[in-house]
Amino acid sequence: MQKIGILDFGGQYTHLIARRIRELGIYSEIIHPEDFKKDSSYIGLIFSGGPRSVNENDLLSIPFDINKITIPLLGICYGHQLIARLFHGSVQSLPTKEYGETWIQINEQAVLLSGLEKKQLVWMSHGDSVMNLPEGFITTASSGQEGITAFENPERKIFGTQFHPEVTHTIKGMQILDNFLKVCTGVRDWKPEDFLNNIISSIRTGAKGKKLLVLISGGIDSLVALILCIKAVGNENVFSIHVDTGFMRKNESASVAEFLNNLGFRNINVVDAKEKFFSRLHNVTDPEEKRKIIGTLFVEVMHEELIRLNLNISDWMLIQGTIYPDTIESGGTKTSSTIKTHHNRVPEIDRLIEKGQIIEPLKELYKDEIRRLAGLLDLPDELVQRKPFPGPGLAIRILAWKKDDPINYSFKEEFGKLLPILASYNINGAILPVKSVGVQGDFRTYRHPVLLWSNNKCFPGWKILKECTNKLINGVNSLSRAIYSIDQLNSQFEMRESLLTKENVRLLQEVDAIIHTQTEHLKEIWQLPVISLPLFDQRGKQVFVMRPVCSQDAMTADVYEMDFTLLQSINDEIKSRTDAGYLFYDLTTKPPATIEWE
Ligand code: XMP
Repeated sequence: MQKIGILDFGGQYTHLIARRIRELGIYSEIIHPEDFKKDSSYIGLIFSGGPRSVNENDLLSIPFDINKITIPLLGICYGHQLIARLFHGSVQSLPTKEYGETWIQINEQAVLLSGLEKKQLVWMSHGDSVMNLPEGFITTASSGQEGITAFENPERKIFGTQFHPEVTHTIKGMQILDNFLKVCTGVRDWKPEDFLNNIISSIRTGAKGKKLLVLISGGIDSLVALILCIKAVGNENVFSIHVDTGFMRKNESASVAEFLNNLGFRNINVVDAKEKFFSRLHNVTDPEEKRKIIGTLFVEVMHEELIRLNLNISDWMLIQGTIYPDTIESGGTKTSSTIKTHHNRVPEIDRLIEKGQIIEPLKELYKDEIRRLAGLLDLPDELVQRKPFPGPGLAIRILAWKKDDPINYSFKEEFGKLLPILASYNINGAILPVKSVGVQGDFRTYRHPVLLWSNNKCFPGWKILKECTNKLINGVNSLSRAIYSIDQLNSQFEMRESLLTKENVRLLQEVDAIIHTQTEHLKEIWQLPVISLPLFDQRGKQVFVMRPVCSQDAMTADVYEMDFTLLQSINDEIKSRTDAGYLFYDLTTKPPATIEWE
């Protein structure tokens, strides 16, 4: 079968490249660069992005001479830089980085970018840039910053893009990949497999005659996994557990039990593990430590439940609704960097996977593909379109801090870079001492948000706020997010202890419920995390952040531009009905910030 080989240098979107190529009708395969063997079935090669720098001494490269590649070659991000370096061009780390939405200008003579309008919106995530190229290569696009945004060598059919054509936020990304496939001249005969039947039969084989125990979170992934299991081995051989961790949304566990009941599933056990989760997480503030404890507790609760029900563990196979982003973000491929450890990717789970005791039938799929499967399975629309909610729940959305944790109040060096940018947008800003996880250049970062507020009583508008955010994060190294204060700011803020306590969960649940009720009708919002910060205003009231995003597959996300009157009404309701203080609005795309704060 003719195929495109994708050499994986550890990029967050490598798998997405493979998916897009298949969507365009040609089979594609991901290979570690060391494992690549030339054969006639390859009609084109793609070098993926990756978290490393091509200027490292032990750079991650290809174990063969690049001149031996005679089929069309496309390099994306790290791949673009690697091609430049292997052909003796130069690559440099510049002070200004590019993360997220970027406008580029295209030159006319381009093959890869042919048919595109001159100005294009693309998605970037890089620190290094290609500065020079050898003879035979032409620059086909630039972003206005230093560095070459896209190049090609038309004669040798070699192409490079600093941006990511595979993510949905690069508006004409599919057309660019399609142009590449045209150069590869393959027959577009690959049809998407019938995922449903394939998955069902793989569950049946994987079960090896055992019964199946499905961990149900309340989200669409585990629900689809449950239905597929029932189709594979029959209702009587499937049992499911929903763990109420105490960190669920308001009334979430009760509604999970109810909707499963309404769908006709009877073998469901809701386990109340609140006390266990609260006592183990009480003093934990480090986000990765929280995640690992939560993942471990899920396994522990499952074992205890089997014992309580007098069931023999060796008769059961555990089913998880893990999807592809869970794996890649957890550093789950040979070359990728760990952004965060998803709850279903902790060492205890890895050990069970190694022992062959876990099946993850959806692990190759993205959220939008799961939703399509859910549609094929005739699940009700309100379940299919539910906003994703992470397994660790509100435990990661309470940004915890205790007195002896390090804190940074001094941002003297950053001010020099910050102030001119703020002044040019006529906006006020201050860097906050809290930190949250980001994904910048395929790497995990743990950096500060900058708080922005208006110089007068007027809302500056989303365009200005988003542009200013982009400039700030690309230009100031210690930042990964920007947030906007809905209220006029007339308070100082102070860091105070905030831990994973029942009181903190209750307040976050109240704020979260108000925001979700008021925004329920806004179907473009894909997910809406609400976060509590360990920051308090002068009246002693706690600060909250809302983060409505638009996405398709969670790999990239854009900021939802909410109507400001609605925002004020949400803010007013929170103030009048809860004890919360200021409400801030997250202005950051993914990348550079992740969807969740932690
Ligand atoms: P980030 O924050 O990395 O999240 O942009 C991408 C998507 O993954 C969800 N998420 C999780 N889901 N277990 C889950 O089931 C986890 O540990 C986990 N961590 C993040 C997140 O809500 C978003 O939809």
